[in-house]
Parts: sequence; C-alpha cells; structure tokens
Amino acid sequence: LAQLNDLAVAAGLKYFGTATDNPELTDTAYVEVLSNKTEWGQITPGNSQKWDTTEPSNGTFSFTKGDVITSLAANNSQLVRCHNLVWYSQLPSWVSGGTWTNETLQAVMKTHITTEMTHYKGQCYAWDVVNEALDDSAAFRTDVFYNAMGEDYIRIAFETAALADPDVKLYYNDYNIEYSGAKATAALGIVTKLVNAGVKIGGVGVQGHYIVGSMPSQSDLVKTLETYTALGLEVAITELDIRMTLPSTDALLAQQSIDYQTAVSACLNVADCIGITVWDFDDKYSWIPDTFSGQGAACLFDENLNRKPAYYGVVSAL
Ligand code: XIL
Repeated sequence: LAQLNDLAVAAGLKYFGTATDNPELTDTAYVEVLSNKTEWGQITPGNSQKWDTTEPSNGTFSFTKGDVITSLAANNSQLVRCHNLVWYSQLPSWVSGGTWTNETLQAVMKTHITTEMTHYKGQCYAWDVVNEALDDSAAFRTDVFYNAMGEDYIRIAFETAALADPDVKLYYNDYNIEYSGAKATAALGIVTKLVNAGVKIGGVGVQGHYIVGSMPSQSDLVKTLETYTALGLEVAITELDIRMTLPSTDALLAQQSIDYQTAVSACLNVADCIGITVWDFDDKYSWIPDTFSGQGAACLFDENLNRKPAYYGVVSAL
C-alpha cells in the first residue's frame, strides 16, 4: 500500500505532511503512525513554536517543547514547517496587554523573530513569518502589532526574518484567502506590496480549514492560488481539515472524502503548489471540537487510528 507522502512526491509535490502537538506524543500508537515518513514527509508543530510558549516573558526564551517536535521530525527525516513568528493570537499577555510605541514593539518583535529563527536555523523548510494579518472582513486586524506599527509591521517582520535565516522559505499564512473574495484580494495586496518593494518572501500558505459540503470549487481554488504564484511565489496548503456537525454519518464521511479530493487536486493543478499539510491526521487530537462546538471528525484517520473514506479520497487525488 503506497502511502500519502510517497504518492505526493511521485505526483510532484515536495511533501504531504501533518501538524502534531506535544501532548499526544505520549500515545505510542499515534506516534508510530506520525513517524512513518512514507505517510507524512513533513511535520508542523501545532502550538509549541508560538510566542506564548517560546517567549513567555520579555527576553526569556524556551524552545524545549518545539525542540521535541523538530527532533522527532529530524529522527524520521521529515521536513518541518515552522509555525509561527508574528500572530495576534496565543501571545503572552506581556505582549498583547503591553503599552507600546512603534519603536518599543518593533524592537521586541525583531528580538523575538531573530532569536527564534536563529535557534531553529537549519531545521525548518519554511517559516510562517506573519500569520492571519487579515480579519474576516478582509481588513487588517487591529492587533497589538498593527496598532503600534501600522501595516508596516509585516514588511519589518519579513525583513527581520530574511536577515535571521537567509536559507529558509518565508511565508505569509492565512485562512479563506485561497478562493476568490475580498480576503484573497487583500492577501494578494499584502504579498504584492512586499514583492514590489523587494522584500524577501518565498510563499503564501493557505490554511484550508473547511466545512464538509461547502468547499470552494476546484477551479476557484486553482485560479486564486495562481494569483499568488504569478508573483513568483510558491503556495502550500498548510492546515487542511474539513469538519462536520457531529455525529458523523456515512453520507457526511462520503462527502468529506470528495471535499478532500477537491483540495488535493487543486494543489496538484497549480504548478507551484509545493505541498499539503493536514492540521493533524487523527480525529482524536484535532483542535476542531475544542474550538467549534458540536463539530469534529475533520481528519483523515478516526479516533482509533483507522483510515476514513477521506484518506482514500486523498489517495485517489494523488
Ligand atoms: C490551533 C491549535 O491547533 C490549537 O491546539 C490551539 O488551541 C489554537 O491554535 N490557525 C493557525 C493555527 O494558524 O496555529 C491554529 O492552531 C489553528 C488556526
């Protein structure tokens, strides 16, 4: 039985990967599947490289949890997408609740980016430098970074990242920017501005958090992803999951399989779509039930590590 990463590589992608997180690494059956490189050629730490974990107080850094994931990946010869450096969420309160000027927050942001990227130098295929700068109405989020620096924080973050590690792909990552609409237009605006200003950016990550039965069409996905690759950037689906209202039914699971096929086929039909990452592969550890009440069953494997119809949907697309 050929497995997902092997199939993806044969189809021309760099990897098919998954997110994981530290708590589930005590589950040996789960870790056995996670560690199989023929299935997952790439790993993303789901939480342990975020600011609240890595710099819980000003100037005090902790990489212990992130290191557990990057060493697991290295032991299995899996690539790592490092995630993330600048994001409004999962910030420690000293950042989100601090009193900042443009100058003081800029200094803090630069130290954070430089220290974390220097620590992980050589271990990441890509870094999500800025995550989710846009809100659901396609405006810039008025978060602590925007409030202190305006939209210029994005340029400063990428320039700082380029200096810290010149060998890693620098990504802008967001959700609902992979199908046409105001948010995709705004994301294209962000990355076009960087490219035109000569700021180093290597890729656009489209998260891909979907709902069964309400996927964007494959042609819309392809068309929208190509607006980014037309700038000379690569794209990747970075956090794919497709949730449903529980309980799951055979009909929902069958539709979910079709929806996974649509997402994977879209990436394969875009020349510079280089990889696909699912936001955990197993319903047992998915973030969905905790965040979207009454919803779940969003992954390729069920809670008992059995492959679902969705898994075979991906296989048929690859
Ligand atoms: C999620 C994690 O999976 C959860 O464990 C955590 O509680 C919240 O964040 N977009 C992102 C990811 O970029 O970092 C988020 O991960 C999911 C949405």
